[in-house]
Amino acid sequence: MSDASPSGTGRDQVDSTRLQRMARAYCDSALLWAALDLRVFTEVNAGASDVAALASACDITELNADRLVSCLLAIDLLRKQDGRLVNAPDADRFLVRGADRYAGPWMQFTRPDVPGWMNLTELLRSHEAPKPLGMYADLTVEKARAYHRATSSIGMGAGRRFARTVDLSGRTHLLDLGGGSGAYSIQAVKAFPGLRATVFDLPPVVVVTAEYLEQHGVGDRVGTIGGDFTADDFPACDAIVMASNLPIYDEAVIGGVVAKAFAALEPGGEMHLVGEMLDDDGVGPLDAALWGMQEILYHSGGKAHRRDQVRGYFTDAGFVDVRDHEFVPDVLVRVSGRKPA
Ligand SMILES: C[S@@+](CC[C@H](N)C(=O)[O-])C[C@H]1O[C@@H](n2cnc3c(N)ncnc32)[C@H](O)[C@@H]1O
Repeated sequence: MSDASPSGTGRDQVDSTRLQRMARAYCDSALLWAALDLRVFTEVNAGASDVAALASACDITELNADRLVSCLLAIDLLRKQDGRLVNAPDADRFLVRGADRYAGPWMQFTRPDVPGWMNLTELLRSHEAPKPLGMYADLTVEKARAYHRATSSIGMGAGRRFARTVDLSGRTHLLDLGGGSGAYSIQAVKAFPGLRATVFDLPPVVVVTAEYLEQHGVGDRVGTIGGDFTADDFPACDAIVMASNLPIYDEAVIGGVVAKAFAALEPGGEMHLVGEMLDDDGVGPLDAALWGMQEILYHSGGKAHRRDQVRGYFTDAGFVDVRDHEFVPDVLVRVSGRKPA
């Protein structure tokens, strides 16, 4: 029998480096946020190509710039090219202020949650019953505006991807459940000329949705309904998308929403649920597990759902041709189904 261990001892090499790295993983978030606050990627993109130039552009001391650059090089947010500092490709695309794809607000979205995560042990010990709407129970228009400043900075890209990968050319009315900024509807009506859409979201949110619809010039083709998708009825439609709200609710709620969606669809209509999902065996991806855990901070009943569970909500409701598709690998999955004609 061959010996696969590097040491040739027949035993796996086990050391503590992975655990030590994990114990300080919070440093990655702190570095990313500080670099965003100081506009490091924006300044590097504009030509600050060494520590001294960056120190001056960001108004920090050279000592602190040197510390920061060492860390950002090590975590591959900055790189060295011919001795000059440059942004890593993803940092250059998404972290430069003013650029079309700037996603800084999304990267800071969970920053206020840090104290909650550092209190995780206590939260896990709680035996209190979950609150039905979690963080959305006391939403105001102002809070919704700040929230969707972040989601829209990443959601418009996801919406574009949806419109590229799902052919809605024969459809006339898309219902966008929990549509938030309207990202999916905006991109869908832009891509499919015969389509109109309705964003269904909580009453304070649709005030903000209307602002995005105007800004994108689609106010005449996308309408809004203020309501609670766990409790209220849906309008008739021939296509439904529900994106990025799966971990906010438990199995019973999501199953109920999918059943209501089935009832609202015309025969032959289609539904797409895009969300962070665990694999069928429940082992990762981490992002899905973390969004499920995040709900503990808001005392909701939300949790991570597996792909096979989501397919089950669809088949239990009566959908056929139920499939899951990679949407953004390791981040988002799309489950689709069709109502029989
Ligand atoms: C993370 S955002 C996703 C927004 C949008 N679908 C996107 O992908 O950009 C989740 C949205 O679900 C909405 N939502 C959560 N619970 C809801 C409910 N019970 N009824 C209606 N909308 C809800 C929230 O208000 C929020 O706009």
